[in-house]
Amino acid sequence: MLLDGRVIVISGVGPGLGRGLALQCAKAGADVVLAARTEERLEEVAKEVRALGRRATAVRTDIRDQASCERLVRETLDAHGHVDGLVNNAFAIPPLQDLLDVDVAAVRRGFETNVLAALSLTRLFVPALVASKGSVVMVNSAVLRHSKATFGPYKMAKSALLALAQGLSTELGPRGVRVNTIAPGWIWADNLKWYFDLLATERGTTSRQVYDETAATIDLRRLPEPDEIADAAVFLLSPYARAITGQCLDVNGGEFHH
Ligand SMILES: NC(=O)c1ccc[n+]([C@@H]2O[C@H](COP(=O)([O-])OP(=O)(O)OC[C@H]3O[C@@H](n4cnc5c(N)ncnc54)[C@H](OP(=O)(O)O)[C@@H]3O)[C@@H](O)[C@H]2O)c1
Repeated sequence: MLLDGRVIVISGVGPGLGRGLALQCAKAGADVVLAARTEERLEEVAKEVRALGRRATAVRTDIRDQASCERLVRETLDAHGHVDGLVNNAFAIPPLQDLLDVDVAAVRRGFETNVLAALSLTRLFVPALVASKGSVVMVNSAVLRHSKATFGPYKMAKSALLALAQGLSTELGPRGVRVNTIAPGWIWADNLKWYFDLLATERGTTSRQVYDETAATIDLRRLPEPDEIADAAVFLLSPYARAITGQCLDVNGGEFHH
């Protein structure tokens, strides 16, 4: 049990990777604190965690709001007494448009959630993380590894998030706190299944065909699922990664080599 007795806070618990992170941390022995804006979803995932025999605390949180984040820290410490890990998973996808066309205000809004809110939230958890010699994992993206058209605004935000993780690693390492990144590629979850269905309809083919064509570009010939990506975060949060900080672990089935 890599995370036995540990308390892990996960920001952005949605139906995809956020849920996967909560369940894999719980399976690894952790109690979890679930933060996002949609209370019903938090409660659903909390129920699944409890069914695994671990404690789950759902705290409705908007990570862009300082008071909301302060409440998250308070409720976490009230309920669990300590914090061993923080996973910054929440994100708002910026417009998928070329940098030459995109509304700069929309890029700025993307930075608010994807970079600055992650910084503010992490800062609030620092005293607790220093006390536990805990660690932080930032959820990034394989967009770091390519420069495809229309992905510029997303790449700008995720590149800044990588820089944030590396800077925090340098600042927090002397205080015993590690900060790492995972960079997933495709994630075979509901959003992508919906998108492949749409592509299949547009192209007059099947979703299976779209999947197979995509999988053919990946070394492992399949798209990673949320639990497989979450396990990389579990590793980085665990004592097995005790000498690893400031690193980015690509979890993409071999789509890009880094
Ligand atoms: N999906 C992919 O194919 C893919 C690929 C590579 C990397 N990633 C990365 O993986 C991570 C998870 O992606 P996912 O698609 O699987 O999403 P997810 O974990 O299913 O959900 C993320 C959740 O973040 C929450 N969120 C957004 N803004 C927030 C805010 N201001 N405060 C609190 N929570 C907020 C949203 O929930 P509420 O609306 O309830 O707040 C959303 O459901 C992201 O960092 C993403 O960049 C995803």
